Amino acid sequence: MLNGPHGYGGVTRFLHWLTVGLLLIQLVLGYTMEAVAEALFEEDSSGGSGGDRVRAGDDQLVFLHAGIGALILVLASVRLLWRLSTPLPPWSERLGPVARRVESWVERVLYATLFVIPLSGIGLLFFSGEERELENRREWFPPLDVVSDDLMLVLHVGGHLTFYAALLVHVGLAVRSRTLSRML
Ligand code: HEM
Ligand code: HEM
Repeated sequence: MLNGPHGYGGVTRFLHWLTVGLLLIQLVLGYTMEAVAEALFEEDSSGGSGGDRVRAGDDQLVFLHAGIGALILVLASVRLLWRLSTPLPPWSERLGPVARRVESWVERVLYATLFVIPLSGIGLLFFSGEERELENRREWFPPLDVVSDDLMLVLHVGGHLTFYAALLVHVGLAVRSRTLSRML
């Protein structure tokens, strides 16, 4: 269960792959929200024009996206607390000194993006003052208008790009050094 000289324990491995799974779902949903809304709502023109329905459907998916994102934020916090309160296993012999330093930094960047991406999403949806149309002509007004929506969008999308770069190095190191089994 716990990390130790034998390697990563079950809790760390479970949290690691749960994060990977949820992030995968979340990224696919993020990029396809508009297309999914089109497929679900465009043909059904009752209750408004097709275009209105697509926008409303898109916005409903944004709230699903927000829910999963909030879950990822909670998971990232649990993970970070777990990591800070339990010792890490010894490094793999297969990672040299440079690879170890790179991996340490990449893990910090990955952790940072697990906070920046959902927090900027929350800022965008709840604190940027940008209103959204919902189904049945209802509208969503963010409770507060205290942050710039442009800044939040830059952080949200910039966070994805930073995440991809870090993930590439992270997975690259695991594959090149054949350390994947440490996390399985
Ligand atoms: C780790 C968690 C998250 C990931 C990986 C993620 C990913 C994405 C992706 C890939 C997009 C599409 C960006 C594009 O088209 O280039 C997006 C858009 C968006 N996300 Fe997230 N997101 C996360 C969390 C959140 C949270 C927690 C919220 C809000 C509470 C949120 C709100 C939004 C909004 C409002 C948009 C723009 C949607 C639109 O107006 O069409 N995201 N996100
Ligand atoms: C969603 C993206 C990912 C994030 C945020 C992430 C994050 C992390 C973090 C922070 C650690 C250090 C242990 C910990 O604090 O839990 C770690 C270890 C590890 N990850 Fe990932 N990871 C991701 C995806 C992947 C993928 C797709 C692979 C598959 C190749 C992978 C393979 C590993 C391995 C093998 C280790 C152990 C490294 C070692 O100490 O030798 N990770 N990961």
